[in-house]
Amino acid sequence: MQKFMLLCLSAFYLYGASSGETLFNGNCVSCHTTGDATAAPTSIEVQKNYKKVYASKEKFVEFMATWVGKPDAKTALMPEAIAKYGLMPELGYDASALKDIASYLYDAPLK
Ligand code: HEC
Repeated sequence: MQKFMLLCLSAFYLYGASSGETLFNGNCVSCHTTGDATAAPTSIEVQKNYKKVYASKEKFVEFMATWVGKPDAKTALMPEAIAKYGLMPELGYDASALKDIASYLYDAPLK
């Protein structure tokens, strides 16, 4: 049973690593839900606020990946969220994973 679990986990890791959606669901959705906001703004709120400031995908992805790599209250686009929930913790993801996630957040049909 343990071996089976391990196999599932590594399959998830290997196949999921290239997908921003899978990475988002594994690493961000615990705080950024699509339903009610409890610990952080919803992914929908984040997408909306970022698109308002960075309409082009290139700028959106670049800024988001950099910010999430090192959250900083001074450059945050959603200071009201910091006042409400506190600054997001630094999670230590590598830049390319963060770009994949940001790219998913730009393209995802969130409403
Ligand atoms: C432990 C909870 C937690 C996790 C996990 C988390 N976040 Fe956050 N995040 C927050 C909180 C709280 C805020 C609101 C306060 C802030 O902006 O710092 C936030 C804000 C943000 C913002 C808006 C920042 C701004 O400009 O104001 C983005 C973008 C973001 N998160 C992306 C991500 C991504 C991508 C991941 C996954 C790699 C992630 N978050 C994982 C808690 C979390």
